[in-house]
Amino acid sequence: MALTGLFLCLFLVVHLAGNLQLLLPKETAVIQFNLYSRILSGNYFIKVISWLLFLSIVLHSIYALIITIKNRKASGSAYAYDRRKVVSSWSSRNMGLLGSIILIFLVIHLKDFWYQYSFGTLPLDDEGNKDLFSIVVSAYGRLWYVILNIVAFMALGYHLLHGFYSAFKTLGVYPSKLSRGLYYLGIGFTLIITTGFIIIPVFVYLNYHT
Ligand code: HEM
Repeated sequence: MALTGLFLCLFLVVHLAGNLQLLLPKETAVIQFNLYSRILSGNYFIKVISWLLFLSIVLHSIYALIITIKNRKASGSAYAYDRRKVVSSWSSRNMGLLGSIILIFLVIHLKDFWYQYSFGTLPLDDEGNKDLFSIVVSAYGRLWYVILNIVAFMALGYHLLHGFYSAFKTLGVYPSKLSRGLYYLGIGFTLIITTGFIIIPVFVYLNYHT
Protein backbone atom coordinates (compact mmCIF):
# COMPACT_ATOMS: atom_id res chain seq x y z
CA MET A 1 0.00 0.00 0.00
CA ALA A 2 2.82 2.40 0.98
CA LEU A 3 4.93 1.64 -2.10
CA THR A 4 2.08 1.94 -4.61
CA GLY A 5 0.96 5.13 -2.79
CA LEU A 6 4.40 6.73 -3.06
CA PHE A 7 4.66 5.72 -6.72
CA LEU A 8 1.29 7.43 -7.31
CA CYS A 9 2.63 10.53 -5.48
CA LEU A 10 5.57 10.60 -7.90
CA PHE A 11 3.16 10.37 -10.82
CA LEU A 12 1.20 13.34 -9.42
CA VAL A 13 4.35 15.51 -9.46
CA VAL A 14 5.12 14.65 -13.10
CA HIS A 15 1.46 14.94 -14.14
CA LEU A 16 1.08 18.33 -12.47
CA ALA A 17 4.29 19.63 -14.06
CA GLY A 18 3.05 18.53 -17.51
CA ASN A 19 -0.42 20.00 -17.02
CA LEU A 20 0.88 23.34 -15.75
CA GLN A 21 1.85 24.00 -19.39
CA LEU A 22 -1.86 24.73 -19.88
CA LEU A 23 -1.27 28.00 -18.02
CA LEU A 24 1.14 29.33 -20.66
CA PRO A 25 -0.03 31.98 -23.19
CA LYS A 26 -2.46 30.28 -25.61
CA GLU A 27 -0.23 30.09 -28.73
CA THR A 28 2.63 28.50 -26.77
CA ALA A 29 0.36 26.30 -24.63
CA VAL A 30 -1.36 24.65 -27.65
CA ILE A 31 1.91 23.71 -29.36
CA GLN A 32 3.79 22.74 -26.21
CA PHE A 33 1.02 20.74 -24.50
CA ASN A 34 0.14 18.77 -27.65
CA LEU A 35 3.80 18.07 -28.46
CA TYR A 36 4.41 16.97 -24.86
CA SER A 37 1.43 14.56 -25.04
CA ARG A 38 2.67 13.12 -28.36
CA ILE A 39 6.19 12.57 -27.00
CA LEU A 40 4.80 10.83 -23.90
CA SER A 41 2.41 8.59 -25.82
CA GLY A 42 5.05 7.57 -28.40
CA ASN A 43 7.74 6.55 -25.88
CA TYR A 44 7.94 2.81 -25.00
CA PHE A 45 9.59 3.50 -21.62
CA ILE A 46 6.70 5.84 -20.71
CA LYS A 47 4.23 3.19 -21.93
CA VAL A 48 5.66 0.66 -19.46
CA ILE A 49 5.51 3.29 -16.66
CA SER A 50 1.92 4.01 -17.69
CA TRP A 51 0.87 0.34 -17.32
CA LEU A 52 2.72 0.19 -13.98
CA LEU A 53 0.71 3.24 -12.98
CA PHE A 54 -2.62 1.58 -13.83
CA LEU A 55 -1.50 -1.57 -11.98
CA SER A 56 -0.57 0.54 -8.93
CA ILE A 57 -3.99 2.23 -8.93
CA VAL A 58 -5.73 -1.18 -9.04
CA LEU A 59 -3.50 -2.75 -6.34
CA HIS A 60 -3.74 0.34 -4.12
CA SER A 61 -7.56 0.31 -4.38
CA ILE A 62 -7.95 -3.44 -3.80
CA TYR A 63 -5.65 -3.40 -0.78
CA ALA A 64 -7.44 -0.32 0.60
CA LEU A 65 -10.74 -2.19 0.34
CA ILE A 66 -9.31 -5.19 2.20
CA ILE A 67 -7.94 -2.95 4.99
CA THR A 68 -11.24 -1.05 5.31
CA ILE A 69 -13.21 -4.30 5.67
CA LYS A 70 -10.70 -5.64 8.23
CA ASN A 71 -10.86 -2.38 10.24
CA ARG A 72 -14.68 -2.41 10.24
CA LYS A 73 -14.66 -5.98 11.59
CA ALA A 74 -12.01 -5.14 14.22
CA SER A 75 -13.72 -2.01 15.55
CA GLY A 76 -17.08 -3.47 16.58
CA SER A 77 -18.87 -2.01 19.58
CA ALA A 78 -16.58 -3.51 22.23
CA TYR A 79 -15.02 -0.21 23.26
CA ALA A 80 -16.56 1.42 26.33
CA TYR A 81 -15.46 4.82 25.10
CA ASP A 82 -14.44 5.52 21.49
CA ARG A 83 -11.35 7.73 21.66
CA ARG A 84 -10.48 7.45 17.96
CA LYS A 85 -11.84 10.94 17.17
CA VAL A 86 -9.55 12.44 19.82
CA VAL A 87 -6.30 10.78 18.85
CA SER A 88 -6.62 10.62 15.06
CA SER A 89 -7.18 13.17 12.29
CA TRP A 90 -10.36 13.42 10.20
CA SER A 91 -8.48 12.47 7.03
CA SER A 92 -6.92 9.36 8.59
CA ARG A 93 -10.41 8.13 9.61
CA ASN A 94 -11.89 8.80 6.17
CA MET A 95 -9.25 7.45 3.80
CA GLY A 96 -11.78 4.99 2.32
CA LEU A 97 -14.31 7.73 1.55
CA LEU A 98 -11.63 10.06 0.15
CA GLY A 99 -10.14 7.25 -1.94
CA SER A 100 -13.58 6.39 -3.35
CA ILE A 101 -14.16 10.03 -4.43
CA ILE A 102 -10.74 10.00 -6.15
CA LEU A 103 -11.56 6.69 -7.85
CA ILE A 104 -14.89 8.03 -9.21
CA PHE A 105 -13.04 11.15 -10.44
CA LEU A 106 -10.41 8.94 -12.10
CA VAL A 107 -13.00 6.93 -14.06
CA ILE A 108 -14.55 10.16 -15.43
CA HIS A 109 -11.11 11.73 -15.97
CA LEU A 110 -9.66 8.77 -17.88
CA LYS A 111 -12.78 8.49 -20.04
CA ASP A 112 -12.71 12.21 -20.93
CA PHE A 113 -8.97 12.68 -21.49
CA TRP A 114 -6.89 9.49 -21.63
CA TYR A 115 -9.42 7.37 -23.57
CA GLN A 116 -10.21 10.23 -25.97
CA TYR A 117 -6.51 10.79 -26.63
CA SER A 118 -5.60 7.12 -26.98
CA PHE A 119 -8.62 5.77 -28.88
CA GLY A 120 -10.73 8.74 -30.07
CA THR A 121 -10.46 10.75 -33.27
CA LEU A 122 -9.05 14.13 -32.32
CA PRO A 123 -8.57 17.16 -34.58
CA LEU A 124 -4.94 18.06 -35.31
CA ASP A 125 -3.19 21.33 -34.39
CA ASP A 126 -1.05 23.42 -36.80
CA GLU A 127 1.96 21.15 -36.13
CA GLY A 128 0.01 18.00 -37.00
CA ASN A 129 -0.26 16.76 -33.39
CA LYS A 130 -3.53 15.57 -31.80
CA ASP A 131 -5.18 18.64 -30.27
CA LEU A 132 -5.54 17.46 -26.66
CA PHE A 133 -5.24 21.09 -25.53
CA SER A 134 -8.64 21.95 -27.05
CA ILE A 135 -10.24 18.84 -25.49
CA VAL A 136 -9.05 19.89 -22.01
CA VAL A 137 -9.99 23.56 -22.53
CA SER A 138 -13.46 22.65 -23.76
CA ALA A 139 -13.99 20.19 -20.84
CA TYR A 140 -13.25 22.97 -18.37
CA GLY A 141 -15.76 25.25 -20.05
CA ARG A 142 -18.53 23.64 -17.98
CA LEU A 143 -18.80 25.10 -14.47
CA TRP A 144 -20.18 21.87 -12.94
CA TYR A 145 -17.18 19.98 -14.33
CA VAL A 146 -14.76 22.54 -12.85
CA ILE A 147 -16.52 22.19 -9.46
CA LEU A 148 -16.45 18.37 -9.68
CA ASN A 149 -12.70 18.53 -10.33
CA ILE A 150 -12.11 20.93 -7.44
CA VAL A 151 -14.04 18.63 -5.05
CA ALA A 152 -11.96 15.65 -6.27
CA PHE A 153 -8.68 17.58 -5.88
CA MET A 154 -9.65 18.57 -2.32
CA ALA A 155 -10.41 14.92 -1.55
CA LEU A 156 -6.99 14.11 -3.04
CA GLY A 157 -5.46 16.76 -0.77
CA TYR A 158 -6.99 15.29 2.41
CA HIS A 159 -6.02 11.80 1.20
CA LEU A 160 -2.40 12.91 0.72
CA LEU A 161 -2.34 14.77 4.04
CA HIS A 162 -2.58 11.46 5.85
CA GLY A 163 -1.29 9.12 3.12
CA PHE A 164 2.10 10.70 2.39
CA TYR A 165 3.32 10.67 6.00
CA SER A 166 1.63 7.37 6.78
CA ALA A 167 3.42 5.67 3.85
CA PHE A 168 6.81 6.58 5.32
CA LYS A 169 5.70 5.38 8.76
CA THR A 170 4.71 2.04 7.22
CA LEU A 171 8.14 1.81 5.59
CA GLY A 172 9.73 2.14 9.02
CA VAL A 173 10.78 5.80 9.13
CA TYR A 174 8.84 6.30 12.37
CA PRO A 175 9.92 6.80 15.15
CA SER A 176 13.05 8.73 14.20
CA LYS A 177 14.35 12.26 13.79
CA LEU A 178 13.31 12.09 10.14
CA SER A 179 9.71 11.53 11.14
CA ARG A 180 8.95 15.16 12.08
CA GLY A 181 10.62 16.44 8.89
CA LEU A 182 8.57 14.04 6.78
CA TYR A 183 5.38 15.19 8.49
CA TYR A 184 6.05 18.78 7.38
CA LEU A 185 7.24 17.61 3.96
CA GLY A 186 3.88 15.83 3.62
CA ILE A 187 1.99 19.04 4.41
CA GLY A 188 4.11 21.02 1.91
CA PHE A 189 3.71 18.33 -0.76
CA THR A 190 -0.05 18.22 -0.24
CA LEU A 191 -0.41 22.01 -0.46
CA ILE A 192 1.64 22.26 -3.68
CA ILE A 193 -0.11 19.33 -5.42
CA THR A 194 -3.64 20.33 -4.38
CA THR A 195 -3.26 24.05 -5.15
CA GLY A 196 -1.43 23.29 -8.42
CA PHE A 197 -4.21 21.02 -9.71
CA ILE A 198 -7.03 23.33 -8.54
CA ILE A 199 -5.49 26.36 -10.29
CA ILE A 200 -5.68 24.64 -13.72
CA PRO A 201 -9.48 24.22 -14.21
CA VAL A 202 -10.13 27.59 -12.52
CA PHE A 203 -7.61 29.33 -14.81
CA VAL A 204 -8.96 27.63 -17.94
CA TYR A 205 -12.56 28.48 -17.03
CA LEU A 206 -11.83 32.14 -16.25
CA ASN A 207 -9.34 32.65 -19.09
CA TYR A 208 -11.12 30.85 -21.96
CA HIS A 209 -14.80 30.80 -21.04
CA THR A 210 -15.79 34.07 -19.33
C1 HEM B 1 -6.30 19.91 -13.65
C2 HEM B 1 -5.82 18.74 -13.41
C3 HEM B 1 -5.59 17.69 -14.44
C4 HEM B 1 -5.54 17.78 -15.80
C5 HEM B 1 -5.69 19.01 -16.69
C6 HEM B 1 -5.28 16.44 -16.31
C7 HEM B 1 -5.16 16.11 -17.63
C8 HEM B 1 -4.94 14.85 -18.13
C9 HEM B 1 -4.83 14.52 -19.52
C10 HEM B 1 -4.94 15.53 -20.66
C11 HEM B 1 -4.62 13.18 -19.61
C12 HEM B 1 -4.48 12.35 -20.92
C13 HEM B 1 -3.12 12.46 -21.52
C14 HEM B 1 -2.12 11.72 -20.75
O1 HEM B 1 -2.22 10.48 -20.68
O2 HEM B 1 -1.18 12.37 -20.24
C15 HEM B 1 -4.56 12.66 -18.27
C16 HEM B 1 -4.31 11.35 -17.93
C17 HEM B 1 -4.31 10.86 -16.66
N1 HEM B 1 -4.59 11.56 -15.51
FE1 HEM B 1 -4.89 13.55 -15.36
N2 HEM B 1 -5.18 15.58 -15.24
C18 HEM B 1 -5.39 16.29 -14.08
C19 HEM B 1 -5.40 15.80 -12.79
C20 HEM B 1 -5.23 14.47 -12.46
C21 HEM B 1 -5.24 13.95 -11.11
C22 HEM B 1 -5.41 14.79 -9.85
C23 HEM B 1 -5.04 12.61 -11.20
C24 HEM B 1 -4.97 11.59 -10.11
C25 HEM B 1 -5.68 11.63 -9.02
C26 HEM B 1 -4.91 12.28 -12.61
C27 HEM B 1 -4.70 11.01 -13.10
C28 HEM B 1 -4.50 10.71 -14.44
C29 HEM B 1 -4.13 9.38 -14.93
C30 HEM B 1 -3.92 8.14 -14.07
C31 HEM B 1 -3.99 9.49 -16.32
C32 HEM B 1 -3.56 8.39 -17.30
C33 HEM B 1 -2.05 8.53 -17.44
C34 HEM B 1 -1.40 7.61 -18.44
O3 HEM B 1 -1.72 7.66 -19.61
O4 HEM B 1 -0.50 6.89 -18.06
N3 HEM B 1 -5.03 13.43 -13.34
N4 HEM B 1 -4.78 13.68 -17.39
